[in-house]
Amino acid sequence: MAAANPPLDAIALLKADHRKVEDLFSQFEAAKGDGRKKSIAGQICMELTVHAKIEEDIFYPACEGKVEDDQLKEAYVEHDGAKILIAEIEAGGPDEHYYDAKVKVLSEQIEHHVEEEEKRVEGMFSQARKAGLDMDALGRQLAARKAELIANYKATGLPTPETPTFESTTLG
Ligand SMILES: [Fe+2]
Ligand SMILES: [Fe+2]
Repeated sequence: MAAANPPLDAIALLKADHRKVEDLFSQFEAAKGDGRKKSIAGQICMELTVHAKIEEDIFYPACEGKVEDDQLKEAYVEHDGAKILIAEIEAGGPDEHYYDAKVKVLSEQIEHHVEEEEKRVEGMFSQARKAGLDMDALGRQLAARKAELIANYKATGLPTPETPTFESTTLG
């Protein structure tokens, strides 16, 4: 768990991100007070935005042809679906009628998505590992890009999300 020494294996890095977000969702559920909720929700949005981006820019393209095509397509669509709720949560606040519900539904969507990635044998990560992807090289790329994105987003705020799999819905 030492932040100074992140895992370089791509799958270990992505799984560590998943565990971190799961922990943040639990913290949100237990949180009392609008300030605390807003702060945890902000961390969830940041973590998920960075995670989705490094998967879409680096890991998923490396999985093309190595992971079942339908599964990979579904993963992209699931990301885009989550981005809608992330944008809502990021722009909203705990005083909103549906705020907690949005965070809860996002956590359920992410739980499903993480299951698809991590499932034994037929999960995306298992398929990618089996196909012999260079997880150390990918891990280094993911870690570098992640650090860069976090620095950017902390400086500028989260960008308007891109949802390239959606034809008729645009955000922003
Ligand atoms: Fe993931
Ligand atoms: Fe993903």
